[in-house]
Parts: sequence; C-alpha cells; structure tokens
Amino acid sequence: MSTIGILTGGGDCPGLNPVIRAVVRKALNEGYEVLGIKNGWKGLVEKDTLKLDLMAISGILPKGGTILGTSRTNPYKKAEDLERVKQNFKELALDALIVVGGEDTLGVASKLVKDGIKNIVGVPKTIDNDLSATDYSFGFDTAVNVAMECIDRLHTTAESHHRIIVAEVMGRHAGWIATEAGIAGGADVILIPEIPIDIDEVCSIIKKRHGRGKTFSIVVVAEGAQFKDKDLVLQEEKLDSFGHVRLGGIGEALGEQIEKRTGYETRVSVLGHIQRGGSPTAFDRVLGTRFGIKAVELVINKQFGKMVALSGNKIIDVPLEKAVAALKTVDMELYNIAREFFG
Ligand code: F6P
Repeated sequence: MSTIGILTGGGDCPGLNPVIRAVVRKALNEGYEVLGIKNGWKGLVEKDTLKLDLMAISGILPKGGTILGTSRTNPYKKAEDLERVKQNFKELALDALIVVGGEDTLGVASKLVKDGIKNIVGVPKTIDNDLSATDYSFGFDTAVNVAMECIDRLHTTAESHHRIIVAEVMGRHAGWIATEAGIAGGADVILIPEIPIDIDEVCSIIKKRHGRGKTFSIVVVAEGAQFKDKDLVLQEEKLDSFGHVRLGGIGEALGEQIEKRTGYETRVSVLGHIQRGGSPTAFDRVLGTRFGIKAVELVINKQFGKMVALSGNKIIDVPLEKAVAALKTVDMELYNIAREFFG
C-alpha cells in the first residue's frame, strides 16, 4: 500500500487540523495509508511519527493548533540533519509528503524538491496572509476575527476611561491583520510595516479627533511597523532558526510617544498569540478542507513540486518555488479605505 506523509511546520494556526482531517479522509478513501510526521521538519530529522487513521482524526475539525505538533526546525542549518531527512524519507517508505507551512517550511520543501526529494506537495498556512501565490491562507480569517473582537473590547474600556489604547497585532512584515481587523473594529488609526510611522501625523489625527469631542481613541499597530524617525526604535534582535527577528515592542514605544506628545492617558495591549489560538472560523475550516482534498488529488496525479492555492474562489496549484518567491504586502487600495476612517 502507498503511504502519504504529512507534516505541519512553523507557527501554528487555526485550520491546520481541518487540513489534516481532509488529507486523511481523502487519502484513505483512495486506498493510501497516512503517516503523520510530528513537530514539523524536526519529526523527519528524528523519525518521530504517528499513524493517522480515522480514530486519530476523530473530532479534530473544530480544534485549533495541530494534532501533529509543530516547530521552527530548519533542517538546512546542519548538514547531518539534512542527511537524516533524506534517509528517513526513504526508511519510512514515503511515496509522497504533504508539507503544510508558511514561507519557511515551504522554503525547505522547495529546496528539498531541487535536492532530489521530488514527491512533495505544499499547503500554505499563515495567520499573516503574506504568501503571494495564494489570495488567502487559512488561519488569517480566524486571527482577524479574534483581533476584531479584542478591538471591540478595548473600545468599551477606552471609552469609559477616556484613554487612548494602542493594540499591537501580529503579521510579521505585512500589515494584513492590522488593516483588516482595524477596518472591522473601527480603529481610529492603523499603522502597518508597509508605511513608516510618522508620529507627528499620528498625534495630529488623535488631537483632531479629540478636538471634535471624542475622549478616547483606538490605535492598531502591526508588530512589524517601524517609526520613520529611526531614533525612536526599539526592539532587541532575537533570531529564530530561519534568521527572522522576533518582533514586538512597537506598541509600547508608540504608546509612550503618543502619551508624551498628546498628553492623553494611554495604555497598550499586545494581543500576541491569542490571535493564533482557538477554534478556526467557518471560512478557515472550509479553506483548510478544500486545500487538504486538493493536496491529495495532486499526489494521486503525481503533480509534485506544487503548492495548492486559492485564486478568487477556485483552488488551483502553483509551482512550490512561487510560494516563497515574494512577500505579499498590504494592498494600498484596501489601506486607503481604512484611512477614510482615521480620526
Ligand atoms: O508567522 C506567524 C506569527 O504568528 C507572526 O505573526 C509572529 O511574528 C510570529 O509568528 C511569532 O512567532 P512565535 O510563535 O515563534 O513567537
């Protein structure tokens, strides 16, 4: 019997379990066996696996996170790890591997295809929505809805106390979560990595708003946003195994500047991993399910070196290397809609 392996790597996100469930259901229906690789690429380095049968996937559709576990392991960091990945792929007798991940995890998949492990299919996931080859990745919709709910909650307390509240959201170097959650939550200013922060402009928007009688404001800032004035920066540089800076700290720095310059009492709320946890929305469950089914279809048709993607409302496939070719930053048409509501 042929065996399909599946792993989930990088930051977890809501929608991973619906993908795993769909892959297993479709693969079993088509006569394959499915082997779960635990904790991303780490599981292939260590040959740490889990048989995925109908019992193993029972009840996982509404669960956040991933039943396989995840890690930010980069097997290309050490030559011996890469060798073990190649060796274990053979020893586990995998006929195909479905890799569910973001830029880093899929980047490894793309390199492996070039290095001879050809039978790989990618599935894009990230709450950041920054993969250019797909219109949406699952996880994003849930993160936006969570952030929107938090902004709603921050509104009521900001209004009662006549404060400014800065909400720092995730998104790495793209401001999608900030922009969409900010529009949906009615933020008074939205700051994103794509546009350096002009602190004078931010304070003047807030002062103007308060000048027309408002006594509170909500400022949404993406964790990757930077001040235009380089003197105002910030965070210590901690790198992960893919060389990414661990972001965070802009909210605090921004809140401090706003309070100092406007004189209005200001608080900062960092939403953090709350945005990544919990049950996926219906959109993310459906998208994850569609991606999982399509990934198995690609395996059946031996369409390897591909990634499934959403284009409009159709599930398509694209070359795996396209998945990591460019960062998808915020569409300025969308950001300009948000701007209409500043102040
Ligand atoms: O890429 C997803 C993401 O949640 C980013 O938005 C964030 O910068 C990063 O992961 C946080 O990573 P970690 O879970 O390692 O702290």
